[in-house]
Amino acid sequence: MSERLVVIGSQWGDEGKGKITDYFACRADMVIRYQGGNNAGHTVAFDGNKYSLQSIPSGVFNPKTVNVMGNGMVVNPESVVAELQKLHDRGINDYQLYISDRAAMVMPWHADLDGAYEAQKGGKLIGTTKKGIGPTYSDKYARTGLRMGDLLEPEYFAERLKAALEVKNMELKMLNLPEYDFDTVYNRYMELAKILGPMITDTSALINEAIKSDKKILFEGAQGMMLCCDHGTYPFVTSSSPSSAGVCVGAGVAPKWVDNVLGVAKAYCTRVGEGPFPTELFDERAHEIRERGHEYGTVTGRPRRVGWFDAVVARYTGMLAGIDNWALMLFDVLSGLDKVMICTGYECDGEILQAPPATINKLARCKPVLIEMEGWKEDITGAKSFDELPEAAKNYVKKIEELTGIPVGIISVGPDRTQTITVSEKLQKF
Ligand code: GDP
Ligand code: IMO
Ligand code: MG
Repeated sequence: MSERLVVIGSQWGDEGKGKITDYFACRADMVIRYQGGNNAGHTVAFDGNKYSLQSIPSGVFNPKTVNVMGNGMVVNPESVVAELQKLHDRGINDYQLYISDRAAMVMPWHADLDGAYEAQKGGKLIGTTKKGIGPTYSDKYARTGLRMGDLLEPEYFAERLKAALEVKNMELKMLNLPEYDFDTVYNRYMELAKILGPMITDTSALINEAIKSDKKILFEGAQGMMLCCDHGTYPFVTSSSPSSAGVCVGAGVAPKWVDNVLGVAKAYCTRVGEGPFPTELFDERAHEIRERGHEYGTVTGRPRRVGWFDAVVARYTGMLAGIDNWALMLFDVLSGLDKVMICTGYECDGEILQAPPATINKLARCKPVLIEMEGWKEDITGAKSFDELPEAAKNYVKKIEELTGIPVGIISVGPDRTQTITVSEKLQKF
């Protein structure tokens, strides 16, 4: 029977999904991205090198692993080609990559519109990555978008492009943005199709074949559950579903195959972009954690907002995504703090809430109920097992397990592939 593992972000993104996916990819036959696009920035570090991936799955460093960009993604052909070129320039050219023929295609105007919609919001920005993610998903669900498979049928592509341009140019004109010319876009996308065309295929068929043939399969989520369009801090969210549930639709896999979910969580929290963040820190400790964790956006370079570990969020995302284990990341970054805090509930309008409220209006009124724990001074970046951790660090891990009811299966003590302690036997065997 094939083995599957779903790696998802359980906070507001940037939890370390790239590191964990790469760690398991060394043993996996297939790695699949199932949502999002080049708004993601996944960092992978091994052998003294660091790589940043946007749309391409983190299994790309292992020549034996088949990498799949699933139908639930929004694919920007221009940026995929640039990303492949960057990998080539660094000597990564022995890989297997397939792109779903059903994946929504990002067109040049989508980024323009993303920027324009943000500008229209005045002071109420979402703080998007301006990659055109929202506008591409909007067109997908409005059924006016183009898809990667269209590139394989030039006449059909031309027809869809003409229809899209008629509407989009009107909108661009209204927003005082430059319009697009059919020939320029058509010719450029046909050039990109020469490079990407051979990779475009029916990826759900590939994935289901791999499931039938007992392969080891990894699903790599992007973003995080609190950025989920349905369950996150709406409207300060992304336009897809980073949950394990997103795997079914976004990869074309039946729910019965989604049965092993690893929730990637930082040992604290970060958020990039706008929106309420109950445990956010504004003092010197935020600065200290930001600098030690190099908490600056991989895609946009923006400083990430920093806060304490939020068990309310962890319980909520653990429930929604059916998380079996936590991968507790950047644990080393907390070393050196006198005290560490964990949020156990939200105090709001005289009540204690155990789950995030639906509106950001109410969430903005929530004050974290914090417990204080002893910190530890030791450098843990070389720890190879749970037993090697200082007592206070062990207590912190146990407290997270107790508050969330979910075991910590992995503890990450540094960015490198080797700085990973796998506690769970099931995960050790994967
Ligand atoms: P992703 O978007 O979830 O893949 O996460 P990012 O790559 O955007 O951000 C995670 C950052 O933390 C990257 O710079 C990683 O190299 C780094 N990182 C991952 N795990 C650890 C860890 O355990 N310790 C430290 N110090 N850094 C880590
Ligand atoms: P990874 O996969 C962190 C945030 C943006 C913004 C909001 C909407 O690296 O964890 P979008 O461009 O998606 O419309 O922006 O979501 N955001 C992320 N934050 N990590 C990410 O990806 C993110 N992708 C989007 O900052 O607040
Ligand atoms: Mg990231």
